[in-house]
Order: sequence, then C-alpha cells, then structure tokens
Amino acid sequence: MNASNIVEVISDFVSLRKTGTSYKGLCPFHDDRTPSFSVSPVKGVYKCFSCGAAGNVVKFIMEHEQLTYPEALKWLANKYHIEVHERELTSEEKQQENERESMFLVNEWAAKYFNDILHNDVDGMAIGMQYFRSRGFRDDIIHKFQLGFCLSGRHAFADAALKAGFQKEFLVKTGLCFERENGELVDRFNGRVMFPWLSVSGKVTAFGGRLLDSRTKGVSQKYVNSPDSVVYHKERELYGIYQAKKAIAKHDLVYMVEGYTDVVSMHQCGIENVVANSGTALSVHQIRLLHRFTSNIVLLYDGDAAGQHAALRGTDMLLAEAMNVKVLLLPDGKDPDEFARSYSAEDFRKYIEDNQTDFIVFKINVLLKGVTDPIKRSEAVGSIVQSISVIKDPILRDTYIRECANRTGVSERTLMEQMNRNIYSNREQQTREQQQHRAADIEEQREEAQAMTSNQSASKVEQMLIQAVVRDGEKIIFRDVKDENSGQTYNLTVAQYIAYDLGSDNLGFSNELYTKILQEAVEHCGEEGFKAEEYFTQHADINIASVAVRLSVDRFQLAESLQVKETEQTLRDRVLHLVADLRLEYVSSRLKELNARLKQVKDPKEMQEIIEEIMKIQSLRSSLAKKTGSNILA
Ligand code: CTP
Ligand code: MN
Repeated sequence: MNASNIVEVISDFVSLRKTGTSYKGLCPFHDDRTPSFSVSPVKGVYKCFSCGAAGNVVKFIMEHEQLTYPEALKWLANKYHIEVHERELTSEEKQQENERESMFLVNEWAAKYFNDILHNDVDGMAIGMQYFRSRGFRDDIIHKFQLGFCLSGRHAFADAALKAGFQKEFLVKTGLCFERENGELVDRFNGRVMFPWLSVSGKVTAFGGRLLDSRTKGVSQKYVNSPDSVVYHKERELYGIYQAKKAIAKHDLVYMVEGYTDVVSMHQCGIENVVANSGTALSVHQIRLLHRFTSNIVLLYDGDAAGQHAALRGTDMLLAEAMNVKVLLLPDGKDPDEFARSYSAEDFRKYIEDNQTDFIVFKINVLLKGVTDPIKRSEAVGSIVQSISVIKDPILRDTYIRECANRTGVSERTLMEQMNRNIYSNREQQTREQQQHRAADIEEQREEAQAMTSNQSASKVEQMLIQAVVRDGEKIIFRDVKDENSGQTYNLTVAQYIAYDLGSDNLGFSNELYTKILQEAVEHCGEEGFKAEEYFTQHADINIASVAVRLSVDRFQLAESLQVKETEQTLRDRVLHLVADLRLEYVSSRLKELNARLKQVKDPKEMQEIIEEIMKIQSLRSSLAKKTGSNILA
C-alpha cells in the first residue's frame, strides 16, 4: 500500500484530470455523465460524490476488478513489481483454486505457450512466424500483443497443458480444448495464429485464432474465438483495450475498428488509441468501458457494405451514452490494417481528421442514397429521427433536425413532432429501467451496510463521535491535566478523552468496528507523528478503512481555503458535547427500556429492583446534565 500511488492505479481505469489538490473523473461504479468521482493523492482515497463509492487503493481494486482482498494486494504488488513469495502450488491445490482463478491461470499459461511456440518451435517459426512476417508484423508488436501460434495436429496444446499440470476441466471451460465423447481432448485453435484478448487490467480472458491463408479457402472459418465463459463475455470486451487505454485518455479519442489485425497494424504504424469489437454490434458495456477514458469516438471501417452496416449498428447507443460519434469509411474497400501499412501515423491521423463525418450526416447519406420508394424513404427518415432523439443535448438535436429537413425535404415541424414523441417514449422506457436499477441498488446497498456493521446499527451521535476520532483522534484537547494519585500532569488527545470518559462508566459504542477504531486510536495516540485520518483510511482491515474514508471525505470535497480551521477549544467543546449527547442517549434509551419492563412485570420483588434502577439512572441523568453544563460553560 505504501508503494502504490492511488492516482496512478485509478488512472489505469479512469481518465483523471487534476483540479486543485485532487483529481476528478467519471465514476466507474455508476453510469456517470458529469465527473463526480474524486481522488485525493494526498489522503490516498477516492470518493464518488454521486453514488457514494469510496475507499482506499485496495478497496478500489477489489471493487473495480471484483477481487478479494488478498487478490487485490497481489494485483498491486504485481503492478509495482513487488515480489510476493508464494510456493509453487501442488497439483492438489491447483484443483482447489477457484474456477475463475484457474481459468485465468490456464489462459495466462496458454498465451505464453503459444508465444513460445511462435519463437522457438520449428513449425511455429516456419508457419506461424512466417505468416506474421508476411503480414509485416514487427517483433515489438508481436511482443506487445503477445501473439502466438497453435501447432496443427489435433492435441499438441492439450498434451502440453496436461503435462504442465492443468486440469481437463479448465481446458474445456476456457474453450481452449473440446472434449470428445471418448474423453480425448482436441485443440480448438489447432493450426491457427493466436491473438490473446486482454482485459482492461491485462488479464488474458480469451483468444482469437486465425487460419493461415492457404487454409481459408473452402468451409473453414477464418477466425475462431474462445466461447463465452465466466472470464470472458465477448459482448463486453474490447480487443486491444489494455494496450490502448493510456493513449485513449491522452488523445481524448478512440478509434473503433472491426478486426484484430486492424488494431495490431495501427499500433505498428504508431496509432495506439484504437480498439476492436471484433465484428459484433457495440454493447452498452463496451461503450461505458470506453467512456471512462474518453467521450469521443471515430468508427473506422472498410468502405464496403459490411462496413457501412457495422457503422450503423449499435450507434444509437453511443449517442444515448453521450458519446460524440464520427464515422469514416475507408475508400476502395480497404480496412484500417491495409491503410495503416501505407501511411505514417501522422498522415493517417490527418486523413481521418479531414475525412470523418458526423454520425447523423453519415446516416442520412447512407440511408437515403438512391432510395426513391416513398415507404422505404419514410422508414429511413424515421430511423434517422430516432437516432437524433437519443441525443441528450437539445441544441444539437435541433441542429440535426434542421439538417435532416434540408436533406430529406420533410418539414422541420413534422420531424420535430416525431422526435418529441420518440423522446417521450424513450424517457418512459428509461424511467422504467432506472426504477428497476435503483431498486436493485438499494437492496445491494442495504445488504452491504448490514454486512459492514455486522448487524449493529450506530446512532447519529455515535457516528459523529467516531468521526471525531477518525479525523482528529491524535489532537490534544486537554493540557496539563493533573493525576490525583501520582500528582503527575499529562495531556489528553481526542481519542484518549473519549475512551477515558466513556470507559469510566462502562459505556462504549454499540458498533464493533467503532469500538475497534477507538481502541486503536488510543493505542497509537502517543506515537510520534501519528495521524488518525491517515492511519485509518489506509488501514489493513478493509472494513475499517472504508468506514474511515466515508467519515473523512466530506472534508476533502471542500477546497482547502474553504475549510473551517478548528481551534483546540472548539474541537474540545465539540467532543464534550458529543460525549454528553451519547451518554444522554444511552441513559434515555435505558430508561425507556426499564419503564417498558416495569409495565410487564408482576412480581413485586422484581418491580422493586426495576424501580431502584430507574431512580439510579434518573439521578445519573441529572448529574450528567449538570456535569456537561458546567464543563461547557467553563
Ligand atoms: N471475425 C470473427 N469471426 C469470423 C470472421 C471475422 O470473429 N469468422 C471478426 C474478427 O475479429 C475479425 C473481424 O471480425 O478481425 C473482421 O473480419 P474480417 O474483416 O473478415 O477480417 P480481418 O480483420 O480483415 O482479418 P484479416 O486481415 O486477417 O483477413
Ligand atoms: Mn484485413
């Protein structure tokens, strides 16, 4: 945790901009349209002011990558090249690894294996490497994309994997192999050059394998992909995202292409802000993944009918997600791969810049070109207006409607009316979906809150008191207090005072985490340079760290200059008030409890006992009121 820089880590997933002492970006934990996600490098914490997600660097990795605590630590260790000493797993332990982990292990190993074959096996070099060379792929690019080769022969890979100790089950679940009825394993990718899919954090989730040209004639599929699995959902992933994410954020722009080789060739020519969706329609997951890094997308497809079709598919969703969409269909049926090989990065960029068209204009051009049949034309106009309807910016919508009216000859008013009808029904649909989401979110939050506090709820006063411990626990609020027994004088910090005061009457927090926080604050208070806020927000117990972040953050939300500087005196007064409030709260609830019991008991002896306790507590209450009164007045 000391080695990791929270801004650096989160920047792997979210495009952050510096504002003052903190950084802002779009929250990766909800569908965020304005940057409400804030990261404080000084405090080492993040917080979303819209959805409330908050935590330290470990918590971020746990939540974002869906990892357990130890997995998140390993992730960070790996990022910062810190060696975590683990022994080689026994084959029995390999079995026990959970499914996802096992599948990642298999995939990771397979990618290395295929790459090794490409470089060191006789056939790998003669066939696989020869193929990449014929396409002009350089060594650095082959390395960057971890390209490889799967030997032909039916089970060369399966044999090697089994020999290395991997289980049949996971070779099948990852889709690297099929299992025959007789139990024999067969390689899915045999004889293909291999393109591994990396997740946004660099894990190998799947493979694409291409047949060599000599074999693409006939029935065989040119490309084969790993099937969907618990580690790979084709419609969610983007090929090349891991290698592209930094460049996308840097250029604030992403190029969307169709194929593996388009991505690889564009990198080779020096354009790195590029991803492929591998010939399927864009999904909302893919768009949101991209939207964390940029709002600007250019669809870069071949100029053939298929490319046109691809550019129209799923594009309304891009508009609805508030992306700025431009389209460029390359001339002469060329794909970006071919284009990249004859252009420098600079020229290619300039070419795109000069020739891209706005998406709506593109759609108008494509759908209306040469269409004279009135019914077909009206359908086309309807589809264009629907695209315009999902745009959030009303000024932009009007501009497009005018453009559309000019181009189609349909009156602006008619188009406008249709658009408003669409907007209305889109909105209804959205509200329904949002309500469903919200209900699910609330349920989730409730469960989380319950888990966090282990079924104990803390009152507002308790929360404010522990907040004082987290924020100011180490600050001295009483000086030169004289110990009546020893005659020595000492100082009391916020944490010490609270613990001492509550402890003297055997009171405490009803929440286990709070109790632990107070205890640790007292333990460390005497240490030179101890800062409670720093200590707790970076605590190794992720539950404590999360509570602490939540209690600390509303302060770094404010600019430094706007923060009220609290004096020792105002801090002391605040703590005294809170302790008194907590005591009163405790006493009142105890009184209520006793009064209720008094109504139920019949036994005179028991009644007498309860009455005695009530009287004791009542006198405690009045002395309490006196005590706090005098303290505060002093
Ligand atoms: N694709 C696929 N399965 C197929 C065909 C295509 O998954 N049977 C995906 C691949 O991701 C491929 C993309 O669609 O990269 C585009 O297909 P295509 O244009 O046919 O291939 P290219 O990328 O041009 O591949 P190459 O240059 O190697 O022929
Ligand atoms: Mn191609």
